[in-house]
Amino acid sequence: MSDCKNSNEESIKMTDSKNLNPNYLRLGVNIDHVATLRNARGAHYPDPVAAAMAAIAAGADGITVHLREDRRHIRDADTAALKSAITKPLNLEIAATDEMLSIALKLKPNAVCIVPEKRIEITTEGGLDAVGQQHRLTEITTILKVNGIRVSLFIEPDLAQIEASKNIGVDIVELHTGRYSNNADMGGGELMKIQQGAKIADELGLECHAGHGLNFDNVGAIAAIPELHELNIGHFLIGVAITMGLNPAVKKMRAEMDKARI
Ligand code: PXP
Repeated sequence: MSDCKNSNEESIKMTDSKNLNPNYLRLGVNIDHVATLRNARGAHYPDPVAAAMAAIAAGADGITVHLREDRRHIRDADTAALKSAITKPLNLEIAATDEMLSIALKLKPNAVCIVPEKRIEITTEGGLDAVGQQHRLTEITTILKVNGIRVSLFIEPDLAQIEASKNIGVDIVELHTGRYSNNADMGGGELMKIQQGAKIADELGLECHAGHGLNFDNVGAIAAIPELHELNIGHFLIGVAITMGLNPAVKKMRAEMDKARI
């Protein structure tokens, strides 16, 4: 197993060079809800690090965690343990606060995805307002990038938000697929917005990712969008792992993504 823990650049290159197929769509597995289950009892199991290793063994190209301000699932110690244990890129989701910025600078994950955060929400509802927070997000992005961390903004597939992200100077935009996933017919306008958003992001030179609410049934249409480079998927995979196991769940998701790209 090659060691890429010491260099963000190296581990990203390793992921890319392993997948020489330019059509390859990376799968980032979000393991937050392993910690949700652990914290429900204040127990030491299930272990997010073990879950991350299992997801990687099954084919995950990276691990994503959201360190929320209230630490309701992933905790600071989890992020440090993951950083030193995993051999694939770590993507840290954070709110745009001073506390989170200083944690990210200490941890040095491969990438930081800045997300909106409201304490009372159940999950990340809606994208970040990159237009309204352009000044603050530019400040944070500049600091992270100077420190060798790739920066992503979790935004709605909206032209103004994508253009603001470009002006802010991020490397990546992650398009929020929540509205698409919540739409019973899983298509129509919401899918089209993501298709068009990915195309615009690509034309602007932004690496485009997507995620939220994706599952075996709705991932295909998203995975088929040629401008996407990575999907981040969590709640469904961790949930379905209870009945089918994490390894088969990640493998099946990988297969659904590959099928959509043929
Ligand atoms: N991407 C981002 C930026 C997120 O905040 C989340 C949810 O934490 C996800 C992807 C994954 O969403 P889900 O858990 O619904 O698959």
